[in-house]
Amino acid sequence: MPDSGDREDRLLVTAALPYANGPIHIGHLAGAYLPADLFCRYQRLKGRDVAFICGSDEMGVPIFLRALREDRDAQDVVDEFHAQIEEHFARFGMSFDHYGRTTSETHRETAQGFFRALAEKDALTLRTAEQLYDPEAELFLADRFVRGTCPVCGYDDAYGDQCEDCGSDLSPDELIAPRSVLTDAEPVEKEATHFYLPLDRLQADLEAWLDDAASDWKPNVRGQVQSWLGEGLRERAITRDLPWGVPVPPGVAEEAGMDPEGKVLYVWFDAPVGYISATKEWGAQQGDPERWKDYWQRDDSRLIHFIGKDNIVFHCVMFPAMLQARGGYVLPENVPANEFLTIEGRKLSTSRGWAVWLHEFLDDFADRDHPADLLRYALASTLPETKDADFSWEGFQNRVNGELADVLGNFVHRALTFCQDYFDGLVPPLRAPSEEDRAALDALAEATAEVGRAYEGYRMRAAAQETMALARRGNKYFNDTAPWHTRESDPQACANTVHVSLQFCASLSVLAEPVLPGAAAKLRDMLRLDGRVRPSTPEGDAGDNDDRIGWDDAAAPILDAGHAIGTPEILFAKVEDQTIQQQMSKLGASNAASDAAPAESPPAKTPAEAGYAPLKDEIAFDDFMDMDLRTGRVTEAAPVEGADKLIRLQVDLGFEQRQVLAGVAEQYSPSEMEGRRVVLVANLAPKEMFGHESQGMVLMAEDREGRLTLVSGEGEPGAVVR
Ligand code: MF3
Ligand code: ZN
Repeated sequence: MPDSGDREDRLLVTAALPYANGPIHIGHLAGAYLPADLFCRYQRLKGRDVAFICGSDEMGVPIFLRALREDRDAQDVVDEFHAQIEEHFARFGMSFDHYGRTTSETHRETAQGFFRALAEKDALTLRTAEQLYDPEAELFLADRFVRGTCPVCGYDDAYGDQCEDCGSDLSPDELIAPRSVLTDAEPVEKEATHFYLPLDRLQADLEAWLDDAASDWKPNVRGQVQSWLGEGLRERAITRDLPWGVPVPPGVAEEAGMDPEGKVLYVWFDAPVGYISATKEWGAQQGDPERWKDYWQRDDSRLIHFIGKDNIVFHCVMFPAMLQARGGYVLPENVPANEFLTIEGRKLSTSRGWAVWLHEFLDDFADRDHPADLLRYALASTLPETKDADFSWEGFQNRVNGELADVLGNFVHRALTFCQDYFDGLVPPLRAPSEEDRAALDALAEATAEVGRAYEGYRMRAAAQETMALARRGNKYFNDTAPWHTRESDPQACANTVHVSLQFCASLSVLAEPVLPGAAAKLRDMLRLDGRVRPSTPEGDAGDNDDRIGWDDAAAPILDAGHAIGTPEILFAKVEDQTIQQQMSKLGASNAASDAAPAESPPAKTPAEAGYAPLKDEIAFDDFMDMDLRTGRVTEAAPVEGADKLIRLQVDLGFEQRQVLAGVAEQYSPSEMEGRRVVLVANLAPKEMFGHESQGMVLMAEDREGRLTLVSGEGEPGAVVR
């Protein structure tokens, strides 16, 4: 059993516990999981003692709702999704030390113990207040049981605990025009008694801690925290009347004079305690049931919470307040929350199928080597670290083809192939290195430090890009020193190029390990280095006497002269256009794999039976993509002499003006057309009509009576419609 007691840097890293009511999508990965995994893998390579903790969040209203809707046990729902999520995470390469779940026995004891300890310290208050109640379902409507209009921004579908649109933290009674999500009934008020966490009383201590601790947190996180504190914290109910959850610990309710019947802990009370429960389970599985205390209770332990931005209040205010009130626990050193990821410029929505599901990605790319690496790299390069960021399939393809394949893969392949072809696969010695050779070797030290600094500072995008920059530097060095020329003219220079290039490959196999664990392992295999580098997974955590190669070793040459390398193979195959198009057409088309209720489909009729124009034959996606549709604005409209159905339009496409003859004169007068937003087929062959050239076609919808309506192209002229 390695003793972690004296390790200099003890890190407790958590990634938000995902709700076990649906599979993982790339929004989750970009928000919390990938950055957390990159960070932990880096820290392990640095030789630090890392406990990377996560698990399924299995309580709470959304899970209960899903079970109700599907008429099954909540336990059944979470069993299904817990197993799925755990498996998908493993395939993505998440290197958790432990992945727990909040329906576990340990969790129930830990959460109840936490609650009991607070109650015994008189840190909780009991209060009876009016609560929203659904008289039809006979249930209190906490949190996500109610939807209504957000009092802050007016969004009409806000949840009882949070507005998804503006991010405000709400309570159900603040909603305007609330309605029950169970029955749509208008809720009534009914008295209920609950325990509250008196955040108002805890605010001063919280501020004293944050003043110091949060000074170097990301501005987006600090800003949110400041605004809550500025408004003044309010006490918050931490129990619920709900048939699903961790029961209020026996005895505590009675002691305080509350009927314990049907009372459970609020999910945002129990879930963060899940980090503690999971750490306990991990220690116990390692044969050391007390080990969790080294991470949670020694004040030299560093706690870091990776989350998405919708979790900030819970991790920066509520959970720290709970920990402070309890006493004797570490508080987070940092909470590097990410913003949101959009997909193809649109907000991710599971119910509308506008999502990329992790397991579908892994299945669709399963015929390739280390498919998770492609997604890891593409996401790492576009993480929403300081503001929302966009994932696009075209961007993905460019990252894979233009960077992974053309830069990293190509460089490695050239260097290894050259060594095999002309040096019998043996690393040549470095003799009398040139200025260029030395500068290149210096770049290894610089990159190792630079990428390391980026990880330490939670700049994962920069870390991924700086890693790639080292491969680019290697490629350039290989080109500039042109070993295929020096092979004849200056064999020693040629040998030096190969030596230095192979050192680049070896260092890259370490530096790329967090982002590209699959490819890095393959690269080490080709270099015959595998087994010599410390794994970045929990297996690598063998204590500080580890003599295997770690992060800092990448700063200097790793390979000895005479070392025999293996056979070069292609590290990354390119992603074809067709693959990208298939993924594009899946977006929004697939049924929501998550929580969409099955839509009622109307009885089938052919279009013709219902008086509509018959459907045309199916076309290929490519055929549709061949059409160039653009938004435009009509700047001028005039009648066309001799053609009483046509109007001659000047359409502004942003980058150019088009003249278009449109058959709309029966519906619209020229003056009505001016200023209209339209959609234009912009790559239609021009056509001569009544002495004018028509340079495109304006889209119109024709109904069953033959009436035409313009299809409106809102937004900036020239935008691509698809
Ligand atoms: N299940 C929550 C979510 O997906 C996150 C819980 S984080 C924890 O938003 F700290 F509460 F565990
Ligand atoms: Zn709002």
